[in-house]
Amino acid sequence: MKPIFTSLTPNAQASDVWFALAALTAPGSWIRGKSIAELENTLAKFLGLAHVYTFDSGRTGLYAILKALNLQAGDEVLLQAYTCVAVPDPVLWAGAKPIYVDCEAETLTMSAADLEKKITPKSKVLIIQHTFGFPADLEKLMKIAKEHKLFVIEDCAHALGATYQGKQVGTFGDASFFSFGRDKVISCTFGGAVATGNTEFATKLERFANSLPYPGVGWIARQLLHPAIIGLSKSLFNILWLGKMLLYLSKVAGLTPLAVYAAEKKGGRPPFAFHRLANALASAAGRQLERLKKFNQHRVQIAQSYEVGLRKIPFGRQRALPGSAPIYLRYTIRHPKAAEILATAKKKNIFLGDWYTTAVAPTGVSYQAIGYDPKTCPNAEGAAAQSLNLPTDIHITEKEVERIINFISGFPPSRE
Ligand SMILES: Cc1ncc(COP(=O)(O)O)c(C=O)c1O
Repeated sequence: MKPIFTSLTPNAQASDVWFALAALTAPGSWIRGKSIAELENTLAKFLGLAHVYTFDSGRTGLYAILKALNLQAGDEVLLQAYTCVAVPDPVLWAGAKPIYVDCEAETLTMSAADLEKKITPKSKVLIIQHTFGFPADLEKLMKIAKEHKLFVIEDCAHALGATYQGKQVGTFGDASFFSFGRDKVISCTFGGAVATGNTEFATKLERFANSLPYPGVGWIARQLLHPAIIGLSKSLFNILWLGKMLLYLSKVAGLTPLAVYAAEKKGGRPPFAFHRLANALASAAGRQLERLKKFNQHRVQIAQSYEVGLRKIPFGRQRALPGSAPIYLRYTIRHPKAAEILATAKKKNIFLGDWYTTAVAPTGVSYQAIGYDPKTCPNAEGAAAQSLNLPTDIHITEKEVERIINFISGFPPSRE
C-alpha cells in the first residue's frame, strides 16, 4: 500500500523541489537579494499591516518581539499549555517567566476563565495561540488583555489565512508571528515572520532584527536540500527499505534539520537560531505563499470529508468557535486509544500526526526546566493524552481520506 504521511514537508510539490535544487546551484543569491523584501511586502499586504520582518524561524520571531519589548527578569508572559516548547523557550531566552494557562478541552485554544486566574501584577505579555489553525476566542481574550494592559502577541505559527469574525488572525494583537517551518501552513524548511501595525513598536523590532546576522551558507544549503531528500525518501519508501534508509542516513549526517533540538527540551537555544531569513529561503516561502489559498481550501475540504466520514464514531474533535474560519493545518481528534491507533497505523503505512501528545511537546521536554507544572493545566493534560492528528495537506486525496477513516473506524472508543 502507498504510504500516507502527515509530517515530512507535506506542502512541497514537485516544482518546490526543482526550485530548491536550482537555487542550490546559485549560491550568489542564497543570503541577500530581493526575495526577502518581496515576501515581507506580500505578507504585509495580505494581512493589511504596515510592518513585517522575516527571521530564520517562528521561534526567533517570537524572541525578537520579546527582546523588542525589553522585558525585565520576573516579568510574566502568559501562554497556553498544549503547545510546542518552541513557544515558552523564547520567553526564557528573553529572561522572562512563562506562565501556563489551560486550554479549552474542545477548541484546544486558551481558556479565558483560566487566563483570568493566572494574571498577576507581574503579567506583561499574553501570547494567544491559534492551535492547528483554529482561531482562539479573540473577543474574550483581547478584552481581558485590554483590562490588564497586556501586550498581545498572536501565535499564528499554524494559522496563516485563518479568520475570526471575517478578519485575518495575526491582525488582532499588538504583534503576531508566523512560521514557515517544514510542517507548517507554507514552508521553506525553516523560516518565520513577525507582523505589527504599531509603528512605534516596529521601530524597536526593526532595530533588533537589523542587529541579527544572516545564516551561514552550510545551513542555508541544508534547508534547500531538505525537500529533495524528503521527496526522494517518500517516493522510495516502499522499495527495499531504500526510502527509510535515506531518511535515516540524512538524519545521521545532519542533512535533515531537527524540528526541535535536544537543548530546547531543557529550555536551551537551538544551534540555528537568532538569524534573519536568507534570501533563497524567502524565495521558496514566497512561492508557497502564492498557493496559500489553494492549500487552505484543500485543507478545509479534506477536513469536511473527515467530519462526514467519522461522524458516527463518538470521539472528540477539535471544535471551531462561532464566527471563526479555521484552516485545519491538521484535523485533530481526541481518542482514548490515540497511542494504539498511531502505532498500529504505522504498520499499515499510515503515518498519522502526533502533535501534541504531551502538554508541552514534543515528548522528553523537561517540565522543571521550562517551569511547567502539569497540575495547573488539566484540560491540556487530558487532551495531550488522547490527541491524534490526521493529514490535510495538498497531497492528500479523497481516497486516502477514506483509507484513514476506515482504519480509525476499526477502533471504536469503547472497545476494550
Ligand atoms: C504553536 C507553535 N508556535 C510556534 C512554533 C515555532 O515555530 P518555528 O518552528 O518556526 O520556530 C511552533 C512550532 O514549532 C508551534 O507549534
